[in-house]
Amino acid sequence: MIPASVIEDIRARNDIEDVISSYVSLKKAGKNLKGLCPFHSEKTPSFVVYDDTQSYYCFGCGVGGDVINFIMRQENLDYVSAVEYLAKRVGITLPDFNDKDKTEKKGVGRSRVLQMNLEAAKFYRDMLFDEKIGAPARSYLIIKRKLSSSVVKSFGLGYSPGGSRSLRDHLKNLGYSYEEMTEAYLCGKNERGYYDYFRDRVIFPIIDVSGNIVGFGGRAMNDSVKPKYLNSSDTPAFKKSKNLFALNFARNHSSEMMIVCEGYMDAISLHSAGINCAVATLGTSITSDHARIIKKYTNRVVLSYDSDEAGQKAAERAVRILGEAGIDTRILVIPGAKDPDEYIKKYGVEKFRSLLNGSLSKFDFFLEKIKDTYDFRQDEERIRASNEICSYIASVYSKVEREVYISKASAFLGVEKKSLEADVELTRRKNQRSEKKKMTAELLRQTAGLSDRVNPDFAKDPVSSRLEEDLIGMVLSFPDLLKVKVDGSELSAEDFNSSFTERLFSFVKKESDESSFSIGLLSRDFSEDEVSRAIKMQVKRRSLSNTPETYAIYVRALRKENGKSDVSDSLESIINDKRTGNK
Ligand code: GTP
Ligand code: MN
Repeated sequence: MIPASVIEDIRARNDIEDVISSYVSLKKAGKNLKGLCPFHSEKTPSFVVYDDTQSYYCFGCGVGGDVINFIMRQENLDYVSAVEYLAKRVGITLPDFNDKDKTEKKGVGRSRVLQMNLEAAKFYRDMLFDEKIGAPARSYLIIKRKLSSSVVKSFGLGYSPGGSRSLRDHLKNLGYSYEEMTEAYLCGKNERGYYDYFRDRVIFPIIDVSGNIVGFGGRAMNDSVKPKYLNSSDTPAFKKSKNLFALNFARNHSSEMMIVCEGYMDAISLHSAGINCAVATLGTSITSDHARIIKKYTNRVVLSYDSDEAGQKAAERAVRILGEAGIDTRILVIPGAKDPDEYIKKYGVEKFRSLLNGSLSKFDFFLEKIKDTYDFRQDEERIRASNEICSYIASVYSKVEREVYISKASAFLGVEKKSLEADVELTRRKNQRSEKKKMTAELLRQTAGLSDRVNPDFAKDPVSSRLEEDLIGMVLSFPDLLKVKVDGSELSAEDFNSSFTERLFSFVKKESDESSFSIGLLSRDFSEDEVSRAIKMQVKRRSLSNTPETYAIYVRALRKENGKSDVSDSLESIINDKRTGNK
């Protein structure tokens, strides 16, 4: 046993916001932080992290706990291992607490979980076909979702009854322990004991390419029940990020292409319409593991995601990830329906097939749209088309991708590659300048409301003020930087715009010229608030690069900012510096 005091220490040193932030991208929401729940698939954030109580809770799926419990879920660890994990994270070495529960609890092996899953799948299937118990589920699948009974059978669909112990008791009779069932995510445990994890849901078994049943998805039949889908969490036999639903069927039909959808029902719908190359992710986005797996079976993927904005965003991400694995990926846009399942039900599979045949890469699709929008016989229209194309290409992050698009577009427009390239570069520069405007707005927003008594000039030019504060932050720790000549001259008081940072600069310079500067000296000439602010600048730079090279970049940027030449290059590297430093 690890003593409580040790655990408390570990917990105290692992700030929950820090820990969770490395898994979930959290955004401030009032006093708290909010993000997309890592434990269920959602499109609008309902996962909240509370700093004051050091806890988290998801309003979407009801999961909550403290930092140790977060790691248990996220890393799929038991309590002791999660504590060890967090100890290691903050550099605490745990002595050997001759831990009994750890040696006793060996954990269930993969093959045992697979056996159990197989028994569970059989049980769910039998329940679905049970005259009485399965009637509502059969009617849901066959009448409401319009599946044929042969599709229901070939996918091995099932039904988990509404009580809370039917599967539990069934598996117990077959000789499995409750602990094993829990580890396989077939059971959960609360104060009243072990209970079936899936209750009153239609069940979708997830089958790997070797035919093992690795996990389950369960859908509520009534849309008022939340969550709509419940999925097995990762077990010794299952990892969401490495499995695809229906791959066991699709893998033999995917040489031409594979269709990747978001939902179980989408994949099933496509299969029942005779399109056998469809798979679905399991409530997660596409990972590079998925991409590697897909690459074994095909070189071409068509993404058929939900037609809403979130779906299309996810599709764009997937294009990138699959592209990196060398898969030619296209996005299928399905007009007039929420998802492929709905589309096929509404318009029929032939319509879907013709969409599929016409599926274009995103850029091709964009060019098609341009062709429809502009009359290429008129010079003016062609120029406008070219402008639009340039701004599209300029917004693409990858240089390789830009080059591919530039080639395509130059052929499309009938203009020289070189001139198109130049235009794209110009647009990129313009965009960087508007990035600067955004940065200004953001900095102003950050300081709005707090009247800046200490540095009242800040708001006049937030971008240069921020550069000045960064420079002060550097020289407070490394006063020698002041001797660095940038483009022939040292930083001087004239380079500063705000009087507070200028005073700090002059002070550090004077002190270090005369003898040597140390932080403790500040209090002689500056008020408490001012000293705090200075320390804040210094602290901010702690995690960032403070080399002479970085210093020079900032000095140069500040000088350019003061109205000399084009600012974009150095500003861009500073923006990047900020980004890396913010981690
Ligand atoms: P229906 O057609 O309504 O059955 O659902 P869908 O197939 O259109 O799924 P949807 O687009 O709503 O969600 C896509 C996938 O995300 C589902 O197949 C699930 O894998 C997953 N998902 C959706 N809702 C939830 C949820 O509430 N919890 C969890 N864990 N996963 C969900
Ligand atoms: Mn759907």
